[in-house]
Amino acid sequence: MGVVLVGAQWGDEGKGKMTDFLAAQADIVVRYQGGANAGHTIVISGVEHKLNLIPSGILAGKMSVIAHGMMVDPRLLIDELERMEAAGCNASLLRISDAAHLIMPYHKILDVEEERLRGVNSLGTTGRGIGPASRDKAARWGIRVSDLLRPESFVEKVHVQLRRVNPLLEKIYGVDPLDPEAISREYLEYSEHLRPHVCDTILLLNRSMEQGASVLFEGAQGTMLDLDMGTYPYVTSSNPTSGGVCTGTGVPPTRLSQVIGIAKAYTTRVGDGPFPTELQDHTGDLLRQRGNEYGTATGRPRRCGWLDSVVLRHSVRVNGLDGICLTKIDVLSGMEKIKVADSYACNDAVIDEFPLDQGAFADCHPEYIELAGWDEDISRVRRFADLPGAVRNYVRTVGELAGAPVTHLSVGPGREQTLELEPILRLR
Ligand code: GDP
Ligand code: IMO
Ligand code: MG
Repeated sequence: MGVVLVGAQWGDEGKGKMTDFLAAQADIVVRYQGGANAGHTIVISGVEHKLNLIPSGILAGKMSVIAHGMMVDPRLLIDELERMEAAGCNASLLRISDAAHLIMPYHKILDVEEERLRGVNSLGTTGRGIGPASRDKAARWGIRVSDLLRPESFVEKVHVQLRRVNPLLEKIYGVDPLDPEAISREYLEYSEHLRPHVCDTILLLNRSMEQGASVLFEGAQGTMLDLDMGTYPYVTSSNPTSGGVCTGTGVPPTRLSQVIGIAKAYTTRVGDGPFPTELQDHTGDLLRQRGNEYGTATGRPRRCGWLDSVVLRHSVRVNGLDGICLTKIDVLSGMEKIKVADSYACNDAVIDEFPLDQGAFADCHPEYIELAGWDEDISRVRRFADLPGAVRNYVRTVGELAGAPVTHLSVGPGREQTLELEPILRLR
């Protein structure tokens, strides 16, 4: 059994929280793409845990797999593992693919320098080296976890890379060249910490699934940040959409049973790029303040706006969503009216499907439907029937506009603040 959780918008939808909630029913939790650009916050018994690389299943005591589709920053991973151990997690549950690519120090420097070079067209990356490392992977220059476990060839590979990268750093970006010996020493020290966790995760996952294990695939980023399906070039350098599960883990599509999209009850985006329903006014500020919309990985304020069902329909289509978990609906309490975009007006035309052509955005304005708000605090409600009528109406309308049923509702950051509306989940 394989259930995929993907972000349906621009990230930070509450994937970590929902993974932690659903992990209780799974045997294994896997991250299949991205790296430390992700920031997943999970609140258990009032205690906040922040994860960048380790799958959220570690907190539920489940085997947690960093599959080969991820980009591993070893220093950050070791720090995170130590933090999780201090929080009472069992570190021996972590598995790391030997084929995952490493984030090297030059990737992070290039990420920052390339952003500077783009100037006004910068993407607003997290600076975690994801773009340059993904580029090296595609160009067949990448250094993988398995290389780190073979010291001699690792040192040789670092030398080769720096022969290529140092002239770039010095001549194009005017920064100091890096010392291959110092990098090798640093990374080989990390290798001893990581070695006990490294294995062939393709075999591990497929054999476990053959024997009946249920696996939860935890997406990072979101559909609109997908390199191919998102708002290119304002995207990340991986495929967070459900197709990324197969290429990022070696688990074939025939083993996946369900795909669930995680969507916030409004929209946020951190970093640059198109965001049709963005509110640069008091309402936007209110959403940021009430939803505490500041990036987990970088602390940047998130851009906020109304829910966009054009985005959700795109997400339902490209991910094949069977259902939607609607999160942070408690944040909308106290809004007199709530808007949801159902189409865009572009010049004289009305379009109701997301344009992948970035040029089309310039003249796009969202067309909204307006729904009644509610004043009640809903964070303690645990049954759909106990919610105010206006909340139930909002949830039903979102499901209809998106074209997929809302299966779960999240009314607060805590594990227990989750309502299961439709018993469609097939983890057991
Ligand atoms: P992720 O990247 O998709 O895992 O999401 P983040 O963790 O970056 O951002 C979601 C934030 O909202 C976190 O701080 C969560 O603790 C919090 N959160 C998740 N679900 C809810 C909810 O239903 N209501 C409220 N108020 N906060 C939530
Ligand atoms: P989670 O998993 C929100 C955004 C960055 C930037 C763009 C490219 O917490 O939802 P990158 O560093 O990946 O090259 O940056 O993608 N971005 C995210 N935005 N949540 C994330 O992860 C993100 N990961 C990357 O802000 O706009
Ligand atoms: Mg996040």
